[in-house]
Parts: sequence; C-alpha cells; structure tokens
Amino acid sequence: MSPQNIILIGPMGSGKSTIGQLLANRLNREFFDSDFFIEKRTGVDIPRIFDIEGENGFRTRETRALEELTGRHNLVIATGGGSVLREENRKLLKASGYIIFLDTSVNQQMARLRHDKKRPLLQTANPRKKLEELFVERKPLYMALADLHIRTDRKFARKVASEIISKLPANLT
Ligand code: S3P
Repeated sequence: MSPQNIILIGPMGSGKSTIGQLLANRLNREFFDSDFFIEKRTGVDIPRIFDIEGENGFRTRETRALEELTGRHNLVIATGGGSVLREENRKLLKASGYIIFLDTSVNQQMARLRHDKKRPLLQTANPRKKLEELFVERKPLYMALADLHIRTDRKFARKVASEIISKLPANLT
C-alpha cells in the first residue's frame, strides 16, 4: 500500500466526512476529519472558535491541524471547505497525498445544510447567496488541486465511495 494519504476536498455539504469514513473502512485506513480534529484539540466547537477568534483565528488552527495530519501516512483526511484558501495549506495537501474533489451544486448543498447551525459562514440572512459566492471563489482552487473530480449530486454516499474506489490508482487501494 502506498503511504500516501487520501484527501477529500470540496464545499460544505459535499459529503466529505461521510464518504471519507466509508472510504477509510473499505480501504483499511484510519479516518480523520480536520474540523473534528480541531475541535478535539481546542476543546470547543467551530462556532465558538469563530466567535472568539474570528475566521482568521480558525484558519490558523486549521493550518496547524493540516500540518499535523499531513505529516502522517495512510490516512483518509476530510478537510474543511475553506482549507484550500491558504497557499500553505494547498502545498501541504498536495505534498501529502492523492486529492479528491467532491463537486456538489449549491442546490444540493442547500438541501443538506438548510437547518445547519454549526457552520458559522452560513448563519446569514441569505445562506444560498453565501454558498454561491464561496463556490465562485473556491471552485478554481478545488479544480487546480484535484487528482480526481467526482460529482456527488443526487448520489448516495455509498455509491460515491464505490465510484472513487473504482477510479483510484492501484497503489492506493
Ligand atoms: C468552512 C467549512 C466547514 C468548517 C468551517 C468553515 C468553510 O467545514 O471548516 O465552518 O469555510 O467552507 P465543512 O466543509 O466540513 O462543512
């Protein structure tokens, strides 16, 4: 097995955590979700980190978490939707593994996140508009980083996981 990590990138509500866990189970790898890792390390949840330290404080904690996770091997890592924003993060991710972009429409994100209270960036009067803005800003970054591009709209997580496994290079399965 290659020591490379398998890394999921993509917007909020694209299924990174669910699909990441399924991939890890099927490929016999350990799974880490970077948001969950940050919460464990910090002892408070993401909304609280945003409240106290602002988005910038959260981004610095995110970079620290990615430094730590990408320093390990044989993992499946689900990243936060904004992890591609900092160049240093992009370099860390690229150097540590095989990157899969879970591409998801804003409609699908809205269907999955409409009652969400845990994403500080969506606690606005118009979350759809916010998701659209983030999509425009970030899609080129996701595309540039990805080794594999998978559309997830209207697909069950298990089906997406199987599709990914069928497309992975042999040294990663
Ligand atoms: C964010 C996505 C979230 C979390 C934070 C910020 C973003 O992760 O890191 O709320 O900037 O898109 P998920 O993509 O797992 O929801």
